[in-house]
Order: sequence, then structure tokens, then C-alpha cells
Amino acid sequence: MTRVAVTGGAGYIGSHMCRRLAAHGHDVVVIDDLSGGHRDAVRWGPLRQCSLLDAPALSQALRDARCDAVIHFAGAIAVGESVADPLKYYAINFGGSLNLLQAMRDAGMRRLVFSSSAAIFGEPRQSFIDERHPIDPISPYGRGKAMVEQLLRDAAPAYGIDAVALRYFNAAGADPSAAIGESHDPETHLIPRLLRHVAGERGPIEIYGDDHATPDGTCIRDYVHVDDLCAAHLAALEHLDSHPGFHAFNLGNGNGYSVREVVAAVHAVTGKHVQARVAARRAGDPARLVACPDRARAVLGWHPATPSLEAIVETAWRWHRAPAY
Ligand code: UFG
Repeated sequence: MTRVAVTGGAGYIGSHMCRRLAAHGHDVVVIDDLSGGHRDAVRWGPLRQCSLLDAPALSQALRDARCDAVIHFAGAIAVGESVADPLKYYAINFGGSLNLLQAMRDAGMRRLVFSSSAAIFGEPRQSFIDERHPIDPISPYGRGKAMVEQLLRDAAPAYGIDAVALRYFNAAGADPSAAIGESHDPETHLIPRLLRHVAGERGPIEIYGDDHATPDGTCIRDYVHVDDLCAAHLAALEHLDSHPGFHAFNLGNGNGYSVREVVAAVHAVTGKHVQARVAARRAGDPARLVACPDRARAVLGWHPATPSLEAIVETAWRWHRAPAY
């Protein structure tokens, strides 16, 4: 059994992680300032309400938590907003991570799993993005994530803080019991927007461009179930037991779906018609982002349990029909 501090543990992926850690017999301490997370999503361990930007409070929180490892989700998540307000993104995502590393070093904590992103790769140069793809982000969000990866690469030999960066493609879906789910404000992500739309909570959906270089002209993404991402984090923690240093893995299913295919999946799962109109492209959206997950499979033994898009949407729909927060 391990005792794990989960930053951002009141958020979407973080709360699913806490649930999985508890189910595997681990103790959890949530570190979250509740700026984006939800108190009602903190159910599997105590909440220490603390901002990553408050370095002394964070240091104290980590010392008090007496954990063996940290899983670091806390951060700002909107790529478009990062272009409009880069200082916010560098402060929270890079500055917050820097404070966390300093606090870990001071508390003598030696293991970290970090939420990185496919956004570090920028405009893809190959159809399936593996770990050898050049890191060349095109947004402050992606650059901040890449900078944290660099920080971790440097911190491993210097302080003996071993770390795994997990580059998520598109996290989606929800805990099948519908106890927790995806709830952002504002919501920018495609699947929850579509589900809120068919639930009658929001007007027509805009498809951001149908003139991309893809078969139907809409953007292709690799949607991966949130619980499968969490399984990879557990595997990453275990990997660090026998493999010190810094490691990085790309996490996706290796299947790409266009925006129109996601709309069709939402229709198939919910039985409801989606009102969608084509709008202008969204700045910074690559036409296609699909992972090559071979390394995570081979090294971490990661085999997603819910790779089907419809199954992913189905779990999200269960939550959206009766969200608890
Ligand atoms: N889209 C629409 N209409 C919408 C919302 C989204 O057409 O109302 C399109 C987007 O243009 C994109 C696709 O649906 O092509 C998926 O968009 P999301 O906003 O759901 O996800 P992104 O691919 O933009 O971003 C996600 C994560 C980021 C991460 C990025 C790259 O949210 O944190 O993947 O991995 F950086």
C-alpha cells in the first residue's frame, strides 16, 4: 500500500484517480484549491485546500500529508485561453509545478506522476504520434507542459525525484457508476458539450471547421476513457519502483474519430438528435491527433479496458443525465 498525494484530486481526472487508488487499497490525500474542482468529488481521502501558487502552504501540506508519491493533475486546461492569457498558464502550470517539485524535494518525496498532454507535440508530423515525435508545442498551454517535462528530466538526476510524464490525448467518459464525472465551467470539450446539448442544457453545437485535411473535413482526435488513463497512472507508479529516472508515455487508444463521428456516436448512444452547424476553425487545432500507444502497452502493460468511442460516450452520458455537481 502506498500513500499518495493527488494534486487536482477534486477535478475531473483527479477524482477518478482517487477512486481507483482507494479501490486498490492505497491511501489518498487530495491537494486542491477548488478553483476548478468540486468538493463533492472528494470522497476517497481528506482534502487539504491549498493552491500550488502558495509555496509555503504547499510545502507544509506535503510535509503533513506524509505521502510516498505525488500524482500531479492540478492545472489550467484550456488551450485557447492559454493563447489569450499566457501568464496565467505559465504561472499555474509551470510555476505551480516548480513549487511542487521544491516542496517534494524539501519533504523528501521521491516519486511523481505528471499529467502532460499531446499538446506538447504541436502540429503532428506523423499519423500516429509516438514518444520519438519532436516536442514542438504551438500554444502556451503546450509549452508550459513541455517545460514541466524538462524540469522533471533535470530534477531526476539532481534530487533523485523519479518521475513519469503521461501525455494524454483526449480524456473522456466517466466512472460507470456515475458517481463522479466531467464538469468544467466553462465547458470547452466536445463530448460534454454534446451531452449537455442533447440534455437540453445548451443550444446548437458548433463544429470548428469542416475544411481540415481529413476524410470528412472535421478534426480527428484519439478519445481515451478517464479510467483507462487512471490505470496507466497506477502502472506508472509501479514502474518507478524498479525504474528510477524520468520516463514519458503517450496515452491514447490509437484510434482517431472525427468531430462528425463523435456527433454520430452521441446520437447512437442517447437516441437524441444533435443540432450542429459548421463554424470557423478554432485557432491552434491540429487536423489530426492520434497516439501510437505501443510504448505504454509494452513497458507499462497498459491495455485500455474501454477503447470503444460509443462505450466511452455511454459512461459520460450516464453522468450527464444526473450530474451530482
Ligand atoms: N470541437 C468542436 N466544437 C466544440 C468543441 C470542440 O468542433 O464545441 C472540436 C475541436 O475543434 C477539436 C475536437 O472537437 O477538434 C476536440 O476538442 P476538445 O476541446 O474536446 O479537445 P482538444 O482536442 O482541443 O483538447 C484536448 C484537451 C487539451 C489537450 C489537447 C491535446 O482538452 O487539454 O486535447 O491533447 F491539450
